[in-house]
Amino acid sequence: ERVLVLAGGISPEHEVSVRSGRRVAEALRRTGVEVQLADADAELLPLLSTDPPQVVFPVLHGASGEDGAIREVLDVAGMPYVGAPPHACRVAYAKPVAKALVAEKGVAVPRGVTLPKSAFHDLGAPAVLQRIVDRIGVPLFVKPDQGGSAFGASSADSLEALSAALVSCFAYSDVAVIEERIEGTEIAVGVLDLGEGPFALPAVEIVPDGGIYDYAARYTPGRTEFFCPARLEGEVARAAAEVAITAHRALGLRDLSRTDLIVDARGRVHFLEVNVAPGMTETSTLPLAVEAAELDFAVVCRELAHRALL
Ligand code: DAL
Ligand code: MG
Repeated sequence: ERVLVLAGGISPEHEVSVRSGRRVAEALRRTGVEVQLADADAELLPLLSTDPPQVVFPVLHGASGEDGAIREVLDVAGMPYVGAPPHACRVAYAKPVAKALVAEKGVAVPRGVTLPKSAFHDLGAPAVLQRIVDRIGVPLFVKPDQGGSAFGASSADSLEALSAALVSCFAYSDVAVIEERIEGTEIAVGVLDLGEGPFALPAVEIVPDGGIYDYAARYTPGRTEFFCPARLEGEVARAAAEVAITAHRALGLRDLSRTDLIVDARGRVHFLEVNVAPGMTETSTLPLAVEAAELDFAVVCRELAHRALL
């Protein structure tokens, strides 16, 4: 088998994707698969026609990698790939849309609103922000409606802080998601489908040293402590697994995904978002969960690539 691992890309998560891609490529090589590692830049189309692989493993995070764009190109080129099809990526990547679709299945989600950049620059904006604070309360969480790795995401516990949070957020997207910040335990649940339907990996509990799982806490080794399996009661762990599978199915995802959740003090599981190209770096949670499930990460990567060919 010849697998093209696509990494890098055009989003702010370029560097993260390079690290994820390297890890997946190394894992595949260990299983004896012939691997090409390439960026999804202008070289992609010539590469697909002059030196076509049998299958593509997209390890691209953020814009074009997770919004379905590159996969549309692969579909047009008739090139099989690992992961969800473009339309499913589009809905999963649009956080408010994903949230609404998962909530429709009866899953708890944080209350929130979306705010376009244009409304923020409007003269009436202060009154609008005040109404949001009154309605949702503080602390709030602000994040771009699309993106990842916590770029442009922050908490706000006052009107002034909300304004500042929105400025950072609008650097990454023209639409902000403003939602209640649910206090509790942050967990990530990976879902894999190796041919017998989607199943959940053990939940990974995320405990950043400064309490905030920002970019530095995500990608600096030692800055975040992970517990896998998460320290949850059996019933809560089962509920978390069920939410991750529900999200995977409701959004039409394929092969792999990772759902990010908060478990509140009462043990209720709240859906935050789902990732169609979860991080695969040395500090990412999905590979950790694969190992905790006593699966071999390299074999899982090979199986995923193999399945794309079927
Ligand atoms: N967006 C990053 C890569 C993640 O979710 O792991
Ligand atoms: Mg994400």
